[in-house]
Order: sequence, then structure tokens, then C-alpha cells
Amino acid sequence: MARSGLNEQLAKIQSLKENFHKEIEACTNPREIEQVRINYLSKKGELNQLFSLLGKVSAEDRPILGKKLNEAKNNLNDVHKQKLSYFAEIDKKKERIDTSLPGRAPFPGSQHPITQILDEIKEIFSFMGFEIAEGPEIESDYYNFEALNIPGDHPAKEMHDTFYLDSGMLLRTHTSPVQIRVMESQKPPVRMIAPGRCYRKDTPDASHSPFFHQVEGLCVDEGISFADLKGIISIFAKKMFGEDVKIRFRPSYFPFTEPSAEYDFTCVFCKGKGCKTCKGTGWLEISGAGMVDPEVFRFVGYDADKYTGYAFGMGVERIAMLKYGINDIRYFYENDYRFLTQF
Ligand code: PHE
Repeated sequence: MARSGLNEQLAKIQSLKENFHKEIEACTNPREIEQVRINYLSKKGELNQLFSLLGKVSAEDRPILGKKLNEAKNNLNDVHKQKLSYFAEIDKKKERIDTSLPGRAPFPGSQHPITQILDEIKEIFSFMGFEIAEGPEIESDYYNFEALNIPGDHPAKEMHDTFYLDSGMLLRTHTSPVQIRVMESQKPPVRMIAPGRCYRKDTPDASHSPFFHQVEGLCVDEGISFADLKGIISIFAKKMFGEDVKIRFRPSYFPFTEPSAEYDFTCVFCKGKGCKTCKGTGWLEISGAGMVDPEVFRFVGYDADKYTGYAFGMGVERIAMLKYGINDIRYFYENDYRFLTQF
């Protein structure tokens, strides 16, 4: 066979090698690899067909071609083996299941701290015989102000700037309107609390938020006195913050209570000694309270000569901040997972 014949054979070997490499590279599983092996490396495969041409070349070219064919054979076998072991390795990894690893527990979620405190307040007052009432967050001027003895131009309104709707309705600034709604709907005796969300046009800072929660309390019957109010608040304080807590009332003014007071608990951080949180006073302000003003009874048609009653408010965020030692009210509304999962 002529030299050009040898070159032709060598070119065939080269392209066989290239094709084999390409095909084996494209294999994505052992089954495909086996098919490539059969096509190229089996008895009737392409490589053996080239071997069968050996007899047709000249004695001089035969060793050269033979050597090339053997090299190609070794190369193809090596590549085939490598690719197979690559898949065997992947298989082994897949099979390696570490049964000692603890499972991933599903995250069950938790209640918002405000909801938890609300539930606690409700439980304490339910235990003392108070019913739970609700009122709308969108209120009329009548319920939010007028029937609470706060007429249109009253200066007390200044502290209660709120969001007004086009219809003339407003977002309630406190839960006190529920006092009116409850008294309108039933005769004495009344013993209820009204938890809920309130709104004021306040710029948010560490202690202010344009929305917040209050719990209103109202008790009306014959012979109810300020001593009853003090007793109830005192029991609540102890149940919420522990037996050591003390309460005090300071004279104040609300148009719908007379006399009116603001009430404080001993500071839960310093136990009354005086610290940064209570500004050295040893006391923390909770909210307002007082005896229901007879003028309010007139609005709801109760006999002010026969009945007396007390009412109190309660800032829920305030209580939650004291209970959990939180120093910024804004944490409650930011939905920060790191904050919420602590409760
Ligand atoms: N509603 C008053 C406030 O938000 C608090 C209060 C409630 C005062 C009941 C007296 C009686 O400031």
C-alpha cells in the first residue's frame, strides 16, 4: 500500500478518536456510555474495523499503523473507564444518607407580643368577672368625643388629633367610645373591658406610634366607689407584674371622669429605686382612670343619682414594653423576624 494510504488510515484513526471523545463527553448516564462502548470498542465496533485493515497495508507501514491503532485503543479504553467511574462516584454520593443528622423541624410560628399581652389582660379581667366588648375603629365624632363630654371646641381634643375620613368619620383616638356604646346597649350593672386598636396623628418615635392598642375598663353599679377602682387596678398590677408591684394615683383631668387620675406602677426595672427608664422617679405611668362623670350618664340615659361607676384606660404597648423590657415601640410594627421570634 502506498504512503498516501497510510496517511488516510492515520486520519481515520484520528477522527475516530475525536468522535469517540465527543460522544462519550455528551453521555449523561451509564446506559449511554455503554452504547458508545458498543459502537466503538466491541468486536464489531469501529476500532476493530480499522484493525482489520492492518493486513492490507504494506509490511513497512504495518508497525506504524499498528502502533497508532494500539495507542488509540488504550486511549479509548481509558476515557471510557474514567467516564464510568465518574458516574459511579455520583451514585455513591447519592446513596450516602446520614441518618444521624437531626431532622429539620417545621417553624410553627408564634403569637405577636401585643396579642400575647392582650390575651393576658383579657384573662385577668375575665377572671374578675369583666365581659369583653368591642367597638369599631372607625368612629363618629359623637362617640369618640361628644358623648364623652368633649364638645367641638374643647381643649382636650388637642391631645387627640386623628385621621379624618371624607365622610366626617374618624379613626378612634382611644377605646373610651366603647364605654358609650356598651352603656347605650344595656342597663346597669356593667362590668366590661374593651381591647382594641386606636389612632392618633403622632410622629413615630421610641414612645409614639400613629396606631397603638388600649384596653378600656368600665364598671357601673349602685355604690361603686374609687376604692373599687383602686382595688381592681391593684389586683391587675400584681397579676401582670408580680406581687411586689405597687400602684399610685395622681390627680388629673379627663372630661368624662370626675374625679380623674393618672395611675402609675412601681418601675419594673429598678423596683421603685429610680433608674433611667423611670427618670429617677421609681414610677411608670400606665394610663388614665376615674369615676364616670354624671354628664356621661346623662348622654346614655343612666340614672346618675342611682348609679356610680369607674372607668380606666390601659396602654397595651406600654405594658408589653415594661413586661419584656423593650425600649422602642416601633419594634412592634416592623415585622422583624429577629424581634418577633423572641416571644
Ligand atoms: N381614654 C383616655 C386616654 O386615652 C384614658 C382614660 C380612660 C381616662 C378611661 C379615664 C378613663 O387618654
